[in-house]
Amino acid sequence: MMYNDTLQTARSFSAEEIRKDFPILSRPVGKNPLVYLDNAATTHKPTHVINSIRSFYESTNSNVHRGVHTLSQLATEQYESARNIVRNFLHASSQQEIVFTRGTTEGLNLLAQSFTNTVVGNGDEILLSGMEHHSNIVPWQMLAQRTGAIMKVIPVLDDGSLDMQTFYAMLTPKTKVISVVHISNSLGTVNPVNEIVKAGHNAGAVVIVDGAQSVAHTKIDVQEIGCDFFVFSGHKLYAPTGIGVLYGKRELLEKLPPYQGGGDMILTVSFEKTEYNELPYKFEAGTPNIEGAIGLAAAIEYLQQFDMESIARHEESLLRYATSLLEQNGVRIIGIAPGKSSIISFVLDGIHPHDVGSLLDRDGIAIRAGHHCTQPVMKRFSVPATNRASFAMYNTMPEVDALVDSLGSIKSLFA
Ligand code: ALA
Repeated sequence: MMYNDTLQTARSFSAEEIRKDFPILSRPVGKNPLVYLDNAATTHKPTHVINSIRSFYESTNSNVHRGVHTLSQLATEQYESARNIVRNFLHASSQQEIVFTRGTTEGLNLLAQSFTNTVVGNGDEILLSGMEHHSNIVPWQMLAQRTGAIMKVIPVLDDGSLDMQTFYAMLTPKTKVISVVHISNSLGTVNPVNEIVKAGHNAGAVVIVDGAQSVAHTKIDVQEIGCDFFVFSGHKLYAPTGIGVLYGKRELLEKLPPYQGGGDMILTVSFEKTEYNELPYKFEAGTPNIEGAIGLAAAIEYLQQFDMESIARHEESLLRYATSLLEQNGVRIIGIAPGKSSIISFVLDGIHPHDVGSLLDRDGIAIRAGHHCTQPVMKRFSVPATNRASFAMYNTMPEVDALVDSLGSIKSLFA
């Protein structure tokens, strides 16, 4: 265990109970209790995670992999044990398939860089969806500029789901990479990643799943999804910022060139030639984010006390309740795909989302207002920005009531 406190096995899930595990949730904002509905941007951290990092610095802190002394060996054991906890969480078949990164963005940049003229060359096609985060667009655009590859975009239907019919029509023998978001951060759409993987593989493409918004909300089994690569960030999973994971199938990672050069990713170096280290170290140049990996493992341990399905059911109830109240109050929701997850984008006609966000903040309510790093989705739905409420396991129905009440006051103010 990453920190020896009172974690339970098979703990029954109660949002009210677990709120006590997240110290920040009891702080006020101004004169109001905090109502935190910006979880798609980042989640809060339970005491177990905070203590795991504190404990690391108080008792173990040292660099990993290089030391012969006790602390370095202990730090290495904790870091590699964190990797094994991630492997188990994703159900990857080997620790060599788990690369620690700074986050989803770095995972995608790593792939786009390493694919350059190895997986993707001049005239090859890269398929993305129309609801991608900028981090799953820009690295591919840069790759296309480097190689002469062509980017193609699977359209989004009016309800916010993917146009799967067009997706099938877009697959060609030139499709070398398909990179799609699992759960859209601006629409909440859950994409049919198993189906996309199957179709992609039939076409001979490598398939990447961006799991930034899915890891905290649904059980992930990379072998069951069948994807070649899966990326996510720790901080959306109750873990610290600056740590993330790239899962990749071993035989594919073996073939890719490293992303960055430096210490730890080598076996031997001379001025003439460098021999790279084995997986996963080949992709982890430099001193890694050791405390981040430990904090991430602690967050996974914390989550694994509960049945993931009870968390998903709770978040689904919040989503259903909020959707119905917002609709009753004449709020326009952007993204109503069947089976969507824990995110509601909405607009109050005639009131700019930034004004809505600032006024909600006066009531202690934190939501996101903006384009959510998905400008193409905003264009698709002809809005410059949206408000976005996004739920986590610790949110409650009274918090949804607080949001809806405050939105009612804002509407009256502008009427
Ligand atoms: N990508 C994060 C979001 O959706 C920051 O808000």
